[in-house]
Amino acid sequence: MKAVFNIAAASLALAAGAAQAQAGQQQTQGAQVYQSSCAMCHQDQAQGAAGLAPALKGSQWDKLAKARAYAPGVLLAGMHGPISTDEGTFNGVMPTQNRLSDEEIAAVSTYLLREVNGQQGAVTVAEVAALRAKPASVSELRAMRKQALAK
Ligand code: HEC
Repeated sequence: MKAVFNIAAASLALAAGAAQAQAGQQQTQGAQVYQSSCAMCHQDQAQGAAGLAPALKGSQWDKLAKARAYAPGVLLAGMHGPISTDEGTFNGVMPTQNRLSDEEIAAVSTYLLREVNGQQGAVTVAEVAALRAKPASVSELRAMRKQALAK
């Protein structure tokens, strides 16, 4: 009887903590996805590497992070062609990351937004699912980037 009570108490405590834990979990998962899928090109601290991949932070990212569909869009479609960055013009090829689940793309996009760029908000799983159903092309993403930076 005592054991049953303890199990009930434990699951109650779990339920109470679940909502709180979810936010924290997305943070951890975002950092993990970043380290396993992005850091080899964009580097540990998202600082980028010349000739390999641009930084995912810095003055441009104050603006790019606000275009909520941009980062998840790039993960779904990839990116190529010259882009002007804080470090100068960059011209490489990023392969699509669309093997990542909606959850993983939401988590790593939120990680970029919050942890890397110190902004508020989150990219939700529902937003990523909607983007995946109707993905932006690379040229649409390039136009979105230009527009975000012009603001
Ligand atoms: C194989 C190397 C590689 C991997 C892995 C990679 N990227 Fe990229 N990424 C690039 C390159 C190269 C570019 C720039 C493409 C260009 O020059 O147009 C880029 C561009 C981007 C951009 C647009 C940057 C800007 O200034 O507009 C974002 C956002 C981005 N990557 C996020 C990520 C995230 C998040 C991951 C992990 C899920 C990731 N990338 C994985 C190479 C990579």
